[in-house]
Amino acid sequence: MAKMASSLVESGEDAFRKIFKFYKRRNLPPDFCDVIDFSKGLPSDKIVPAILDPSAVSDVEATRVGLQSVRDWRAFSLQGYPGFIFISNPFLLGSQPFWVRQCLKTYSQKPNVCNLDMHMSPSDTQDIWGKSVHSLSSPHSGKRETKTLLDRLRWVTLGYHYNWDTKMYSANHYTPFPADLHLLSFQITAACGFQGFNAEAGILNYYRSDSSLGIHVDESELDHSRPLLSFSFGQSAIFLLGGLRRQDPPIAMYMHSGDVMVMSGQSRLLYHAVPRIISAPQGRTALEMEGCSLASPQQGCSVVEPVSEKDWAVCSRYIQSSRVNVTVRQVLGPGQSFPDTPSAHQRTDAGQTVGYHDRAADEEGENRKSSSSCDSVDTAET
Ligand code: OGA
Ligand code: MN
Repeated sequence: MAKMASSLVESGEDAFRKIFKFYKRRNLPPDFCDVIDFSKGLPSDKIVPAILDPSAVSDVEATRVGLQSVRDWRAFSLQGYPGFIFISNPFLLGSQPFWVRQCLKTYSQKPNVCNLDMHMSPSDTQDIWGKSVHSLSSPHSGKRETKTLLDRLRWVTLGYHYNWDTKMYSANHYTPFPADLHLLSFQITAACGFQGFNAEAGILNYYRSDSSLGIHVDESELDHSRPLLSFSFGQSAIFLLGGLRRQDPPIAMYMHSGDVMVMSGQSRLLYHAVPRIISAPQGRTALEMEGCSLASPQQGCSVVEPVSEKDWAVCSRYIQSSRVNVTVRQVLGPGQSFPDTPSAHQRTDAGQTVGYHDRAADEEGENRKSSSSCDSVDTAET
């Protein structure tokens, strides 16, 4: 019988790596019995309801960005992880398709930066969606020999564009952060007790079924007192949340479509990773997403717009085998600015990609942001 993750670790070793490999392994599928599933309510006494501030976000404001009333959110905290909040799919039925379409069609456009820019010209990568949809909507797309640009998309950066080589953001490499995603993040952080969140940088990760994201800490932001938000869409994943040291064994939890995580306070700088993508529970993605036709234009002031059937055909097919994760970060504290160091000014515009090259999948899937890493999400090429 497969061993449980919790029985693996001995003291003093890199426990995170060991558990990462346990969940990543393909030859002998691991036992998932230790994986917390927040969609099942309060499965353990380590999980407690999170304290939210429903008065911080009116129902109208929540509806505008496609969220349920804060009073209806199922939000959880984990004992031993202060500042970590898991909100089990707070989206209104029918609003996830809008956010999925933004991730695939809108945020992948210029001036945002993506992995394909590292070895293609801006004119070749300026309309990833437009250059991919024809082939993705054709009935023979299952048998396609050449991958579309959308198939090859691995990451997109927004706002202050994260530099994977220097692991830094810089004042000179900034393009406007999408207003809709800022508003969504602002409302969620407000409900979690953080006033005035300013979404300044975003990383979108596009995972295929064999992708993983290595062990890392998000510490490049200059103000760690601001929360970091994570949104999951499409297929599910296993998320590992560790401690401040690699020796601290991580806990495992499922992330399903629509789930939102807030890492703040003492949990803001914890090691974490995504060792494995797993199929969404039967029917879940289809069911929650299909409400797309129900997405009503809400009182004219909604940021969530209905998604056309044509767009949804492409998006729904994409997420049947993929997962999209969006992390939203505030980089600078109020009144803070970037230090004036030469390295912070290495790159001057979104189109310049000098020094980048694709990283071959790292066997152990760790060191996500090792130097010259360009495919932040590791995919085993087949
Ligand atoms: C990240 C990250 C987690 C995920 O992009 O920094 O940790 O769920 N993403 O994909
Ligand atoms: Mn991270």
